[in-house]
Parts: sequence; structure tokens; C-alpha cells
Amino acid sequence: GESDGEAMFDALIEADGRIEPRDWMPEGYRRTLIRQISQHAHSEIIGMQPEGAWITRAPSLKRKSILLAKVQDEAGHGLYLYSAAQTLGVTRDEMTQQLVDGTARYSSIFNYPTPTWADMGAIGWLVDGAAICNQVPLCRASYGPYGRAMVRICKEESFHQRQGFEILLTLMQGTDEQRQMAQDAVNRWYWPSLMMFGPPDDDSPNSAQSMAWNIKRFSNDVLRQRFVSMLVPQAAVLGVTLPDPDLRFNDETGEYDMGEIDWTEFHEVLAGRGPLNTMRRQHRRDAHEEGAWVREAAAAYAAKKSAKAAA
Ligand code: 3HC
Repeated sequence: GESDGEAMFDALIEADGRIEPRDWMPEGYRRTLIRQISQHAHSEIIGMQPEGAWITRAPSLKRKSILLAKVQDEAGHGLYLYSAAQTLGVTRDEMTQQLVDGTARYSSIFNYPTPTWADMGAIGWLVDGAAICNQVPLCRASYGPYGRAMVRICKEESFHQRQGFEILLTLMQGTDEQRQMAQDAVNRWYWPSLMMFGPPDDDSPNSAQSMAWNIKRFSNDVLRQRFVSMLVPQAAVLGVTLPDPDLRFNDETGEYDMGEIDWTEFHEVLAGRGPLNTMRRQHRRDAHEEGAWVREAAAAYAAKKSAKAAA
């Protein structure tokens, strides 16, 4: 019959309890958590690139220091998540190598260009806004280290979303050129931010098992819908138009019906053929290689120190 561990695991999941690193867990549970948490961590690290490019070109010292803080937060989110994944038996080097080799996924959203300063506003408002919708339920993920990492990340994410909204609001209260720049950025980032939630529920191979294990609490489409319904009133305050002509309030559901998402684009980006996939990976690979001497020096220093301590 079932091993004691399996019975314990099933009882914990049934009671909506927490699984901790030392608990018995099915191989599939371990594997899907390593998959999701490492991809989440990769997304945070790659997500530093679009905004990093604007730190030296921010329009004021205030905007520069806010953007610097946000990019540093993303690095920290990556480290929390890599550490959470490592409790499942995968090493930091393995995960880094998978990202550098191009065999690991990261969120599609970071493969798009950021041609103007208004993109910093659209990323904060739309990308971090979508991330909040997706990450708040993950605070209750059944795997302890993942859920706890999410609590800290969500607190910082709300600052990211607010500063993005504020950038767009400032631009929308500016000149006609600034208003147009903000609207163009919203047009560029709106549909890709909806794709962050994943494929439609009837094309989501991981969802059923992930929900049975209390990792995913709401389906891709439910969270996507929640995000759009949250955006509509905020867009009205900003005075920007969401680029979906089919967007309209549905009296029965109390939600907003949306137009068709271009899933061909989604699959192209996932296949590595998005606007900037190659550049994003190359940049990460270069940073890894150029930073090797720092890691070696730190390791040599640590070895010397521990040798001295042991002597
Ligand atoms: N980009 C890249 N790959 C995606 C994707 C996206 N937007 N959406 C789905 N996929 C992949 C999945 O990883 C899966 O492939 P895999 O089996 O090889 O991993 C495949 O498409 C099918 O999708 P499923 O819906 O079956 O997969 P999941 O159940 O894993 O759901 C998910 C996808 C909703 C993204 C889920 O993995 C998740 O919630 N992950 C954690 C959140 C996350 O990674 N967010 C990244 C956003 S960026 C961010 O948070 C940084 C912030 O600071 C802005």
C-alpha cells in the first residue's frame, strides 16, 4: 500500500497544509516545483535587462534612484527564488547553466524592446501589475519555501506597480508628445502582459496537476480576467486607451470580455523567436562569463579563510 510518506503528503495537501523541504514528496511534485520556481527566478533576472538599459538615461535623479531600487529588487527576487528551488535538490550552477545555455524558460514578456522612457511606466503598471495578480495566490502555494518567498516579493512588487502607474500619470498630464509616448508604450505592452498568465486553460498541460497540488490556486484564464478587470478603471484614471477594440463590460459576468489574444505570437516568443530573445540570452551569458573571475576570487577567499580557521 501507500508508503507512510505518501499518506502524509496526501493528508497535508488534502488539509491545504504546507510541504517543507524535509517532507516526503512525489517525484512529480518536486520536478514541477523545480521547473516553475527556477523559471520564475530566471524571469526575475532576465527582467532586469529591459529596465537596466534606462537607469543611465532616466529623466531625473528621482526616477533614476527609483528605477535602480526596482532593478535591485528584481535581482533579490531572483536570489530568493533560486534559494527556494535549491531546497528541492537542484544547484544554483545547474540552474544558471540552463539559463545561459538557453535550455531554461523565462517569462515571454522580457523579450520585448523598451524604445522610450514611457516603457518604464508601462512595464511597472502592466508587467508588475500582472505579476502581482499571478504572485499573490502563490503566497499560499503548498510548498513552504516558495510561498514564503512570495510574501516578501509581493510587498516589493506593489511599489514596482505604483511607480509605473505614476510615471504614466505624469506623462499623461504632460505635452501631447508625452501623452502619445505613454499611449504608444501601453499599446506595445498590453497584449504581451496578458500572455504572461500562460496559454488558455484548455491548452495548459500543467494546470490540472499544479492545481491538484495547491501550487496553482487559480487557472491562467481566471487570473488573466482578474487582471484585465483591474486594469480598466486604472486606464480610465490615466486617460490611456487599452488597445483592445472588443473590450466591453459583460453585465452577466460582471467582468470585461476581451478580444482574441494572438497565441501564434506567444508560441513564437516561447520558441525563442521573439523580438529580443537572442540578445537577452547573450547578455546573460556575457555577464556570466565576465563575472567568472569575481566568483572564483570569492571562492578562493572563502577557502583561504576556512583553511585558516581550521588550522
Ligand atoms: N512565458 C514563458 N513560458 C510560459 C509562459 C510565459 N508567459 N506561460 C506559460 N509558459 C510555459 C510554461 O512554463 C509551460 O512550459 P513548461 O512545461 O516547459 O514549463 C507551458 O508554457 C504551458 O503552460 P502551463 O500553463 O501548462 O504552465 P504552468 O502551469 O507552469 O503555468 C505560469 C505558467 C502561469 C507562468 C506558471 O508557471 C507560474 O505561475 N509561474 C510563476 C510566475 C512566473 O514565473 N512569473 C513570471 C512573470 S515575470 C515576474 O514575475 C517578474 C516580476 O518582477 C515582473
